[in-house]
Amino acid sequence: MTDDFGLAENTEGAAGDEFEEIDVSDTEADRIARRQDREFAEFRKRLKDNERFKLDDGAFDDATYAAIYKLVEDGYVGAFGGPISTGKEANVYEALDHDGGDVAVKVYRINASNFKQMRGYLEGDPRFEGIRGDKKAVVLSWTRKEFSNLQRAREAGVRVPEPIAVQRNVLVMELIGQEGDAAPTLNDVDVDNPETAYEVVREYIRRLYDAGLVHGDLSEYNLVVYDGELVVIDVGQAVTIHHNKHDEYLRRDCRNVANFFARQGADADPESLYDYVVENASPRSDEETERPDDE
Ligand SMILES: Nc1ncnc2c1ncn2[C@@H]1O[C@H](COP(=O)(O)OP(=O)(O)O)[C@@H](O)[C@H]1O
Ligand SMILES: [Mg+2]
Repeated sequence: MTDDFGLAENTEGAAGDEFEEIDVSDTEADRIARRQDREFAEFRKRLKDNERFKLDDGAFDDATYAAIYKLVEDGYVGAFGGPISTGKEANVYEALDHDGGDVAVKVYRINASNFKQMRGYLEGDPRFEGIRGDKKAVVLSWTRKEFSNLQRAREAGVRVPEPIAVQRNVLVMELIGQEGDAAPTLNDVDVDNPETAYEVVREYIRRLYDAGLVHGDLSEYNLVVYDGELVVIDVGQAVTIHHNKHDEYLRRDCRNVANFFARQGADADPESLYDYVVENASPRSDEETERPDDE
């Protein structure tokens, strides 16, 4: 299944308007949760009673249910399927949109145990300057950051799930794979052609860097394989080149990726991967990566 990793043309998108103002003070979802009207109460009960959704052990707060409610009202989500993954920071679910198409819904925990670490990735990113440092603000910014990073990666010609909607701590995106059969991560497949796959991932890292982004957690666990393509996921922590640790993160990504492909038999090593990326990219300049309202 992994014998023809296609590499799409770099469409070289414009900088785009992904840096809308980030306001995490109060969201529509918070207001819905506070209002607690009958419709919302019924919706929440339905979700809580949903056998497949319940695995969460009631860890979701009302505002999280309200965020999902808002996404349903707005037509982005119609029905929930089962979980694809339950992690430390977030759970990922399959869902259907209103037209019956597949989507993936990533729900970040407001009570993420590692929110201090999360805050470290936000500090130094000009898109999030001046954001409050409490848990809720950090997790909401993080969710917005993942959405914005997905857009930017797409514009840079990197295959990622298409971002669809974001509401508070909930992100809706394209489901990679099929309903009931989400695509496996790279560590879970037999790679028949490690050289080609390595070249594709190397190009992804280069394109991201060229667009002023460093993934920051790139490895075989955050690459999914579907339909002859390698898809980069989990870009919440990705930082711009303004972040004071971006170079350290880039080196770490290169190490993870090169070591994985070397174990698969490819001619790969961390140093030459890093050198290749740095020598073949010219990261976007400051003005282009600043938030427009900072000007
Ligand atoms: N858009 C998607 N389509 C299919 N599977 C996904 C998608 N996003 C995430 N997953 C699955 O969920 C898992 C966890 O998602 P990820 O974004 O990596 O979050 P975490 O922070 O928990 O690692 C992934 O390893 C992958 O198996
Ligand atoms: Mg992950």
